[in-house]
Amino acid sequence: MRLRDKLVAARIMRVIFLTLLGGVMALTGLGVGAGADRAPDSFQDARQAMVARQLQRRDITDPRVLVAMGTVPRHCFVPESLTSQAYGDHPLPIGGGQTISQPYIVALMTQWAEVAPGDKVLEVGTGSGYQAAVLAELTDQVWSIEILPELARQAAARLKDLGYGRVRVRSGDGYQGWPEAAPFDAILVTAAAPRVPPALTAQLKEGGRLVIPLGPPGGVQNLVRYRKVQGKLVEEASLPVRFVPLVHPPALKAAPFADPPEAPATSPGPGGPPR
Ligand SMILES: C[S@@+](CC[C@H](N)C(=O)[O-])C[C@H]1O[C@@H](n2cnc3c(N)ncnc32)[C@H](O)[C@@H]1O
Repeated sequence: MRLRDKLVAARIMRVIFLTLLGGVMALTGLGVGAGADRAPDSFQDARQAMVARQLQRRDITDPRVLVAMGTVPRHCFVPESLTSQAYGDHPLPIGGGQTISQPYIVALMTQWAEVAPGDKVLEVGTGSGYQAAVLAELTDQVWSIEILPELARQAAARLKDLGYGRVRVRSGDGYQGWPEAAPFDAILVTAAAPRVPPALTAQLKEGGRLVIPLGPPGGVQNLVRYRKVQGKLVEEASLPVRFVPLVHPPALKAAPFADPPEAPATSPGPGGPPR
């Protein structure tokens, strides 16, 4: 077999694998999200290519995460002018100076969070709502907090429209977590903080996973996966990244909400522009 034929065959096998896996998960109830009932859309091929090329060829191996990423319609979470780029290997602007993270980073954070059905998960930094929707494919217990009220409002409406209405979204300061809903099995922070906010450690269950980018704005940051063991965070994995900052409320006054630009202001890769 020629190399090109081998590559085509491998691609077909991947699509068959994901399709079968999706069917098995729907039948067994392993997938708990809204995706199983959704009709195929015109971005189906682009989405499966994203899963095969950007995730499986890297180190995303958790079948439930692969199916979730192959199910959530990412193009519905980006501004209309950018839908053609929704499945590209890069972040995209979503308004308010914020971004929807690169698909690979969303998948990696989800894989590191080890979300089982029924787990309680908190996301800090709702943004477009995309990461929350991916989490909602894995568990029906998702809380997400966003500091920009306009983004929180838009994300909540979008999630509801797409069948992810069970995700609880609120506008507030994620540094404080969501004490009324704690404790959580997993917490994902999708903006970079100088250090782990103490409230998040307190709101994590024993054995729980915390995935958070740490480092200064614009400087060297590391995406870190911690596990809470005997009340303390133990670092288990890390990766150099670049995220937008986790802001403190006073900093917001200088940064009013602005619509996204026509073209992406960001591009891929650790050390590149913010995710
Ligand atoms: C990289 S974006 C998140 C992308 C998002 N997870 C998605 O799937 O589209 C980071 C988000 O964190 C939000 N954010 C920044 N500081 C925050 C804080 N203290 N509390 C809650 N959200 C915050 C930003 O407004 C922004 O929407």
